[in-house]
Amino acid sequence: SIEEKVNALMSKMNLEEKVGQMNQYSSTEELTGPKMASPDLLKEIRAGRLGSVLNIRGVKQTRQLQEAAMQTRLKIPLLFAHDVIHGYRVTFPIPLAEAASWDLDAIELSARIAGKEAAAAGLHWTFAPMVDICRDPRWGRVMEGAGEDPYLGSLIAKARVKGFQGKGFGSTDAVMACAKHFAAYGAAIGGRDYNSVDISGRMLWETYLPPFKAAADAGVATFMNSFNDLNGVPASASTYLQRDILKGKWNFKGFVVSDWGSIGEMIQHGYVKDNYEAAEAAVKAGSDMDMESRSYINNLVQLVKDKKVPESVIDEAVKRILTLKFKMGLFDDPFRYCDEKREAATLNTPEHQAAALRMAEKSMVLLKNENQLLPLNKEYKTIALIGPMAKSNADMKGFWALDWGKEDNLVSLYDGMQHKVGNTTQLLYSKGCDITDTSRAQFTEAVATAQKAEVIIMAIGEAHDMSGEAKSRANIHLPGVQEELVKAIQATGKPLIVLIMAGRPLIFNWTADNANAILYTWWLGSQAGNAMANVLYGDYNPSGKLPITFPRFEGQIPLYYNYLNTGRPAQNEDITFYRSGYIDTPNSPRYHFGYGLSYTQFKYENLKLSDTVMNKNGSIKVSLLLTNTGKFAGEEVAQLYLRDYVASLVRPVKELKDFKKVYLHPGETKTIEFTIDKEKLSFYNARLLWDCEPGTFKLMIGSSSKDIRLEGDFELMGSR
Ligand code: IFM
Repeated sequence: SIEEKVNALMSKMNLEEKVGQMNQYSSTEELTGPKMASPDLLKEIRAGRLGSVLNIRGVKQTRQLQEAAMQTRLKIPLLFAHDVIHGYRVTFPIPLAEAASWDLDAIELSARIAGKEAAAAGLHWTFAPMVDICRDPRWGRVMEGAGEDPYLGSLIAKARVKGFQGKGFGSTDAVMACAKHFAAYGAAIGGRDYNSVDISGRMLWETYLPPFKAAADAGVATFMNSFNDLNGVPASASTYLQRDILKGKWNFKGFVVSDWGSIGEMIQHGYVKDNYEAAEAAVKAGSDMDMESRSYINNLVQLVKDKKVPESVIDEAVKRILTLKFKMGLFDDPFRYCDEKREAATLNTPEHQAAALRMAEKSMVLLKNENQLLPLNKEYKTIALIGPMAKSNADMKGFWALDWGKEDNLVSLYDGMQHKVGNTTQLLYSKGCDITDTSRAQFTEAVATAQKAEVIIMAIGEAHDMSGEAKSRANIHLPGVQEELVKAIQATGKPLIVLIMAGRPLIFNWTADNANAILYTWWLGSQAGNAMANVLYGDYNPSGKLPITFPRFEGQIPLYYNYLNTGRPAQNEDITFYRSGYIDTPNSPRYHFGYGLSYTQFKYENLKLSDTVMNKNGSIKVSLLLTNTGKFAGEEVAQLYLRDYVASLVRPVKELKDFKKVYLHPGETKTIEFTIDKEKLSFYNARLLWDCEPGTFKLMIGSSSKDIRLEGDFELMGSR
């Protein structure tokens, strides 16, 4: 068995070799592309001082390092890790955009393809998925997660783990996944990256932990801890998170890697005085591998000699690491992921590009469509494309597309439109301004271009490096003078469609009120322009729904749909005094969680409950009829929310508990069914136990968290 093999190997290892397995270095500090390893790195590998290398990729490059590992005394292979976040060579939409599809199969396929390409490029391990729930669009890393909701986030976490890991460890078309950042990194105070997190136990369990639990249940190979402290304890030193919850309660058998330097950063946190103490605290708390801080490699041997850390603690970590190396088949053949032919045949195939196109189409959210301006009338013969994103292809890749190559030819909106219209329609273009411009110098030319066209499509938003790690923004309005440009163009009186490309929810109130149509495209990856053209012309009917609330003002943040009612809830959309609200804006967001339009309309009717009372071990079947009442075939995401009216801890006004994405032809009706059982009614009570309480519940089904079309009450029997 693998366990026996691991034990046999460990019996031959000395302490230095064991500690070497717990050490991970980057192949290069520059992330711009695959490079051959430096002589220093090769020396470290040959000395058996490394268990894993990150940022190296490519068959040729990984082979060179693995050859060095084969020169060590025990020939223990290296694990090659990399941030493969939304595609490897073919770039898929950023994870937040994919989450807007609410299409779990498509999301799994996207991760499947990324895993396949990464494995073909010699990699064994991706630092994804990021499953941090985020209710704060100022946080730059919001682009990398699945949004604000723990239920949707858990399903997406599972889909991504399944996709990356494919048929399982050792298949050469899949990689090990890594659920990160454990835990609660998305709650960084003020949305500032690397910041502290201070939340209640209940908030941790109810909002931030569920997607991690889902990833663990889906068999994720590894976890990454996080930069933040959680209620005063840096995550890298949190025994509560790593030993009590992850390896204890959840029985996780894989290993935990630190975030980059996070073990050493505990000195700056003020938690330990030096790297010696940092290593002691982290290893005892269950951090198995040290990424880049050098605390382990420089101190663990001494810590054992000084009797500060029992060798059994080191053994446990090394066992976890070696077990995965065995499972990946690396002891059978350390070069099994190093196959030039497979690499050439697998990267950037037409099939992968086609999947990226489908995913990009599904990720867009139609926010506004006055008088059915979209899909575009094919009779328009002159269209003006205006804005700094209209011809940009580099920005389509988004943040964390580290393996984007020029040969991928990311498709800009302009190129996508040009492919679509050929010679039938004239495309005019004007940039209007740069993304962060403060000057209006180019406005006159843009307005003149707009005046020559029958319809205007504006492309504005954030550059690809304005959301991501270390990209928090205090001002999340459209950057620069872009909204001023929208005003100048709108003044021409021509029909105006605005496409917003960004890595987070932005604020664009004037545009929201005054443009005729708005399509939120996020950053869509390799096929961005083709996907946008398909949606603009109705070859794909948009079906995306927001996975995160869009505020009106930064001052409303954190703003989320599953809030508590309070003792003085605000009334409707009004500003009301002595109520929980503001005197200068309603509480409501600009766009609600779950919101997104289609070119068609859907009718919800005939809600039926199999019963209006249930026992704790019983269930209620819910059904309704969903009809496409419009002219276009399309998909709707029917969303089910619940409210527990009275409970021993106050409960949110609504919580997403189920959804179905359904395709309907015009005039077609389908029956949609849901089942309500105790799982959907439970919550973490004051003792942090997952349980449900008898009482009355409200059932709400609708097209968004705001647009509830059907509702009813039912009773969970029993006494409180
Ligand atoms: O995987 C990432 C992590 O999410 C943030 N810090 C760096 C790591 C490795 O690149």
